[in-house]
Amino acid sequence: MSAPNTGARGFDGTPLEVRRFEHGSRVPGWDRAADLTKDPESVRDLATTPVPSELRATIERAMAKYPDRRSAALPALMAAQQVHGWCSPEAVVQVAAVMRLTPAYLDALATFYDMFHNEPVGRHDVYVCTNISCSLRGADEIYDAMREAADRVSEVNVIGFECLGACDIAPMASVDGTYVGPLTVEDTRTIVDDLAAGREVLEAKQLKRRKAADTLAAAQPTSAGPPMEGVDAPDEGAGPDPVQPKETDTE
Ligand code: FES
Repeated sequence: MSAPNTGARGFDGTPLEVRRFEHGSRVPGWDRAADLTKDPESVRDLATTPVPSELRATIERAMAKYPDRRSAALPALMAAQQVHGWCSPEAVVQVAAVMRLTPAYLDALATFYDMFHNEPVGRHDVYVCTNISCSLRGADEIYDAMREAADRVSEVNVIGFECLGACDIAPMASVDGTYVGPLTVEDTRTIVDDLAAGREVLEAKQLKRRKAADTLAAAQPTSAGPPMEGVDAPDEGAGPDPVQPKETDTE
């Protein structure tokens, strides 16, 4: 297979294959052009546009946080996506009616940010980071295994993504917003099983359950001086594995 035309070239002038963009966020179609033959959409009348009451309340709460209601456009679209499963034309029209904006304004956002779905997808989003830190620790293999595992069910979307800001647990993924890592190939199957069973995903590898990013932080004094009471002292009962959930963690 020839290398995709990424524009990048090696020292000898031959096109370079930049693999991570194959499954990265900027996939073909993201810059879909507007249909200029259609009449522009106007601002819908909320009185004649049916909007689920909970969705309307969520959007109005978001708008109340900002002096300019347009600042709430992203959380409003995300709330609609959670209700409809994707940013369908109906979902966009509902948000537009509540926010008193044109659907085109919101459509421009929904088609730009790749955490919005512009087509029907499964209920669960798994973003596998394929950026440099994760890539160096086997992210491509994790991504392929995740896709293969998700093929068994229809409700899991696997999306390659750029750095998710949790390089210390590379290779990692975000599963419906929960960060998990470092991942193994076996973990990808567990993630799908957990999602299918409605369980917490990879509970022992969730970032929010780690005691510290530095695995030695709880056990050793800092280099700045002797241990400070209540700050540097190791937790009573802290085990050797820093990814084990805390007993007191109620999340
Ligand atoms: S490179 Fe994967 S989280 Fe930063």
